[in-house]
Amino acid sequence: MADLTGKTIVVTGAGSGIGKATATLVAAAGATVIAADVKGAEEAANEIGGSAEGHVLDVTDARGWQGLIGDVLGRHGRIHGLANVPGIVTDVDALLTQTEEGWQRILDIDLKGAFLGMRAVAQHFIDNGGGKIVNVASTAGVIGMPNVVAYSAAKGGVIAMSRQVAVEYAAAGVRVNVIAPGVTQTNMLGDITDELLGAVKAATPTGEVASAEDQANAIVFLLGTGSDKITGQVLPIDGGWTAQ
Ligand SMILES: NC(=O)c1ccc[n+]([C@@H]2O[C@H](COP(=O)([O-])OP(=O)(O)OC[C@H]3O[C@@H](n4cnc5c(N)ncnc54)[C@H](O)[C@@H]3O)[C@@H](O)[C@H]2O)c1
Repeated sequence: MADLTGKTIVVTGAGSGIGKATATLVAAAGATVIAADVKGAEEAANEIGGSAEGHVLDVTDARGWQGLIGDVLGRHGRIHGLANVPGIVTDVDALLTQTEEGWQRILDIDLKGAFLGMRAVAQHFIDNGGGKIVNVASTAGVIGMPNVVAYSAAKGGVIAMSRQVAVEYAAAGVRVNVIAPGVTQTNMLGDITDELLGAVKAATPTGEVASAEDQANAIVFLLGTGSDKITGQVLPIDGGWTAQ
């Protein structure tokens, strides 16, 4: 477990799933966690307890980002890390069924949200010797998969954008890395059938599906000092799915 004692870390998508598990582990590692989400943030912060703070944030809202980061800096003086976790998928996301509105909604939350988050903290990181950013993509951003045309575009965009920002600000001490989860047991799976889950496990080299905590562990590592020499990288946490 990374030691994040004395750090202030912002985690978005903290109301559920991977974001909530990340906020929980960030707090357990000693940091003050700012748990932000469009819903469930206060509840998550209350569950985590200690110094955890819940904030309502729609990651597609640039002014909301400004307000959150300004507020946290006003009270804590420093932000050391940001995990951009939120994402949505829909079941109408094949090339021939996706609508322009649906495409835009997915791109806004899954890609633009991470852009706005990085932009909101970047100057503060540059002015203060650096900071850690972890963006959450998906194996759908790494390999081709059916029925996820907008989602794949967004997650591939997250990977490309993260590499760009990593390279541009590496000398300023900013580190930007990406995790690419495979199928993970969260609300995002909706009412997935046991049959489908069994098929996913059978097609996964480790024979298992990841938990939210599996993903959160990697995010916390990338937020900690143990990852200081890593930037612009993509870590698939998928039981070997993309290694096949
Ligand atoms: N669960 C999986 O199988 C899986 C696989 C690959 C990648 N991912 C990625 O992991 C990340 C987390 O997903 P999860 O599995 O924890 O899903 P989840 O549905 O449990 O959590 C997603 C969270 O994002 C929040 N959110 C949605 N729109 C938002 C907005 N506009 N502003 C702020 N917050 C918003 C939701 O309120 C929710 O709390 C996503 O980026 C997702 O694409 C998940």
